Amino acid sequence: MTTVSGEKTACVTGANGYVASLLVKQLLDKGYNVHATVRDPGNQAKVSHLLSLTGSERLKLFRADLTVEGSFDDPINGCHFVFHVASPVIFDSEDPENEIIKPAVQGTLNVLRTCAKTKTVKRVVLTSSTATVRGCREEESGRNLTEDNWSDVEFLLSEKPPFWAYSVSKTLAEKEAWKFAAENRIDLISVVSVLVSGPSLTPEVPQTVILALFLLMTDSEFRRKRQQQMTGSVSLVHVDDVCRAHIFLAEKDSASGRYICSAVDTNVPELAKFLSNRYPQHRVSTDFIDVSSEKVSGEKLIKEGFTFKFGIEEIYDESVEYLMTKGLLPK
Ligand SMILES: NC(=O)c1ccc[n+]([C@@H]2O[C@H](COP(=O)([O-])OP(=O)(O)OC[C@H]3O[C@@H](n4cnc5c(N)ncnc54)[C@H](OP(=O)(O)O)[C@@H]3O)[C@@H](O)[C@H]2O)c1
Repeated sequence: MTTVSGEKTACVTGANGYVASLLVKQLLDKGYNVHATVRDPGNQAKVSHLLSLTGSERLKLFRADLTVEGSFDDPINGCHFVFHVASPVIFDSEDPENEIIKPAVQGTLNVLRTCAKTKTVKRVVLTSSTATVRGCREEESGRNLTEDNWSDVEFLLSEKPPFWAYSVSKTLAEKEAWKFAAENRIDLISVVSVLVSGPSLTPEVPQTVILALFLLMTDSEFRRKRQQQMTGSVSLVHVDDVCRAHIFLAEKDSASGRYICSAVDTNVPELAKFLSNRYPQHRVSTDFIDVSSEKVSGEKLIKEGFTFKFGIEEIYDESVEYLMTKGLLPK
């Protein structure tokens, strides 16, 4: 809420996570008061990286779970912006319906229902994924994907390609969000992010950073598995840029609709050549067959006035350095 002194309050859901914790940091750095939701505020291992941020006297932790109706009422109360980032980022599950799909969809509606009844909320920014645009039949690949594209949920459910349940969860959650927002006159923006990499504030190394660097991993079994799953296009964004894009779109009055957030568009063979040249000590195999791959266009975000700070060199230099300090890549 904007106070007489011009202060603003923002709610960030799933605040302890990879993307959200840097978003909280950037909001605090910009002078916002932040209402941060986590599943267990008493779990020091999950929240100490938030509590040690500069400006944490303007940070308030709240307990909230995507699956608990009404649990976002208190944290959203009094907020100007709501950044709904929380969602299960799980790629292998024994029970995808209950572990991934239901919490993502119900949680998004749960958050939006609270936003609809909270007068202070001016805009909701939903963290979405290009998993919502990429999931289509193989014969449709080779396309230029934009914000107008949507994954084919029937195809994902019947063919179960890699990461299908995550893709279904994000697609259904975002579609439901647009429907609910239209029916309830909520000003909604979605940030449709590609694969995020770069150093994390979290104690645990995010799995998407490891995914972005799978070609450098020394565990050959892991590399082989990911290689099978990621044969086509690879699009990347630095975590700092994706968080800045969230705030940029929240604050930009003219923003509306979906925004693909992508700084680098490449494919596995091209990426392997780049990594092999840049980090020869890691002996990256470049033995890949060229594949036709889709392109995702981040033009709309750039036209809105956003500038990416990190290109492929910076993303990988920082990610490699980060994984070395965590002992996950040899120095
Ligand atoms: N990283 C990427 O490459 C990428 C790319 C595109 C989009 N995204 C989107 O960005 C968002 C954040 O992802 P991330 O990479 O930062 O993953 P992350 O570190 O795993 O963060 C996910 C957050 O969601 C929370 N969460 C999961 N299930 C929950 C539940 N039932 N109730 C409340 N909170 C729950 C997690 O809490 P716990 O810690 O308690 O589990 C965590 O705080 C997600 O919406 C994801 O789909 C990420």
